[in-house]
Amino acid sequence: MKFFIDTANLAQIKEANDLGILDGVTTNPSLMAKENIKGHDAIMAHYKTICEIVDGPVSAEVFGTTFESIIEEGQKLAAIHENIVVKVPMIKDGIKAIKWFTDNNIPTNCTLVFSAGQAILAAKAGATYVSPFIGRIDDSNWDGVELIKQIVNIYNTQGFLTEVLAASIRTPLHIVKCAEAGADVCTCPLSSILGLLKHPLTDLGLQQFLNDASTMK
Ligand code: E4P
Repeated sequence: MKFFIDTANLAQIKEANDLGILDGVTTNPSLMAKENIKGHDAIMAHYKTICEIVDGPVSAEVFGTTFESIIEEGQKLAAIHENIVVKVPMIKDGIKAIKWFTDNNIPTNCTLVFSAGQAILAAKAGATYVSPFIGRIDDSNWDGVELIKQIVNIYNTQGFLTEVLAASIRTPLHIVKCAEAGADVCTCPLSSILGLLKHPLTDLGLQQFLNDASTMK
């Protein structure tokens, strides 16, 4: 399973990249707004900086919701860097646009996916990635990991090539469950990635080893 970081924060992206286990980045308009980026040129420059930090796919989301505006924005985003993946919402014009990008060799990430039916449509349009939002599904009292399992099963059964990108990750356990469920990619906040490191027995065991090592100096 590939690890993407789900943020537009440059310090966090650098920290995850320095770990050596980062395969890519996802952003969305809310994550970009958090970084206080204002205006078209600043947005474009920010994506370029992210692409210069991480050698892997960087999802940049369109703001438009009509076919024409999605195509226009997506082409500009794709021109920033060869690693840009155009992130498109799961709406009728979005599906049409994903098909257009597929036909024009521009990689896409179909976002805001909450059902297997939506994931089938994204795959039919040729999306490179589909992003089911598992944390938001859990928040609404459904089971996000079950949706990942269902989509993985459908894609394997049907031979769809779209990669399942588990998004809206809230905890380290979500990452483990998505790996078990067969997700191709997990996009995670830095806190969830670092949370994978933690186990009290590791801390206790290390302390004991350090104590014993100090007796041998
Ligand atoms: C990433 O592709 C998604 O936009 C993101 O994971 C959504 O996460 P949230 O539900 O925590 O906002």
